[in-house]
Order: sequence, then C-alpha cells, then structure tokens
Amino acid sequence: MRFVSILASVGFAALPYLTRASPLLETRQEAAPSQFYLQTQVYPGIDDCGTNKDGLYVFSYHTGAGLGIAAAEADQLSSWFYLNDTNLLFTYEDNEIGPWPTEILYGPYQAFNQISISIADGPATPGFFVNGTGLQQNTTAAWLACDWWFTDPQIFAYNGYYSTPLPSSCSFVNLIPRAVA
Ligand SMILES: *[C@@H]1O[C@H](CO)[C@@H](O)[C@H](O)[C@H]1NC(C)=O
Ligand SMILES: *[C@@H]1O[C@H](CO)[C@@H](O)[C@H](O)[C@H]1NC(C)=O
Ligand SMILES: *[C@@H]1O[C@H](CO)[C@@H](O)[C@H](O)[C@H]1NC(C)=O
Repeated sequence: MRFVSILASVGFAALPYLTRASPLLETRQEAAPSQFYLQTQVYPGIDDCGTNKDGLYVFSYHTGAGLGIAAAEADQLSSWFYLNDTNLLFTYEDNEIGPWPTEILYGPYQAFNQISISIADGPATPGFFVNGTGLQQNTTAAWLACDWWFTDPQIFAYNGYYSTPLPSSCSFVNLIPRAVA
C-alpha cells in the first residue's frame, strides 16, 4: 500500500530510479534475527497425508558421532540457528566445539536432497538468506517435510527442476525464523 502510494506521488517515470536505488527492492532480503528457531509452515502444492508437518521446529537429528540430518519436531529445543554471511549454522548454549554447519547434500539427478547439520561434516553450503517467505537458499526451490526413515519428519531441499511426483507423505513447507527470546 505504502509502495503504491509512493509510486503514485512520484510518477511512473521515477520507477527505474527507485529500483536501482534500493537493493532491498531487488533481492527482497530481510535481516534475519541474530538467533532463531526455524518453524515449519505447510503450504499447498502436494496432495499430502501422513503426520502433521506444520508448526514443527527444525533440528539436527542424530545420525552418528557429530553427524545429523535436518528433521523437525513439535518441541522447541535449546538449540538455534544463525546466519554468518550466507552460511546457516546451528548451535546451543555453552557449545565448546563450534557451530554445526548446514550443508545441502549433493545427490546427482535427485529431485530433492538431504540436508546435513553436522560438526563432523561440511563445509557449510553458502547462499542462505531470509526474506518475507522465510529461509531461502539460492540453489533450492522449496523445502519439503516428509515422513521418511527417521522417527520425526525429515526436511529436504527440493531442487525444482524435475517434475517427478513427490511422495504423499511430503508437504511443502516454509521455514519461518522465530527469534530466540
Ligand atoms: C563467521 O565466519 C567467519 C569466516 O569464516 C569466521 O571467522 C567467524 O568465526 C564466524 N563467526 C561465527 C560467529 O560463526
Ligand atoms: C549462491 O550464493 C553464494 C554465496 O553468496 C554464491 O557464492 C553462489 O555463487 C550463489 N549461487 C547461485 C547459483 O546463485
Ligand atoms: C523469497 O525468495 C524466494 C526465492 O527467491 C521467492 O520465491 C519468494 O517469492 C521470495 N519472497 C518474498 C516475500 O519476496
């Protein structure tokens, strides 16, 4: 509304100038909270079924010493994410071994990929940022939450360039940053 009224008052000819003058208008990035939880928000797109995927908190599901895979559960944990430049890091109070980098695992010719959150793996995948739709990553088209091989729904990075049918236990989710109080 405000943007519309600015345009109306300065006139259409000023639009290119406004666009160039404000990087925010081009990228639509927002400042992420300094420390945040990531909460799932289901949106339509898959005829989905299975467990509830909405309102869950993303965490590192333990898969080995120092290894974890992105999954989500109802309880908010005492660990959180932060962005360092475009790297997404996971940490917790009194963490003495350093932050856990988030890495989108490569899977050739796959429609979607697992996401590692591991101190013993990495390096972090760059290109993460936050905008009005939540967490984004510049090679990822969307986030999926699926009933998979863990006891909590797993979070996957959906590439978006294959039109393969998705499992109906998957839902498309936004990952909304919730500031740590
Ligand atoms: C952010 O990244 C820089 C460069 O890799 C590193 O030196 C610094 O320790 C990191 N800071 C945090 C808080 O992770
Ligand atoms: C994604 O962002 C990273 C970090 O800014 C950058 O190095 C990389 O080139 C970007 N990739 C694409 C496909 O835009
Ligand atoms: C956030 O970025 C994604 C990916 O570039 C884009 O699809 C979405 O529309 C953006 N959201 C807003 C509110 O700009």
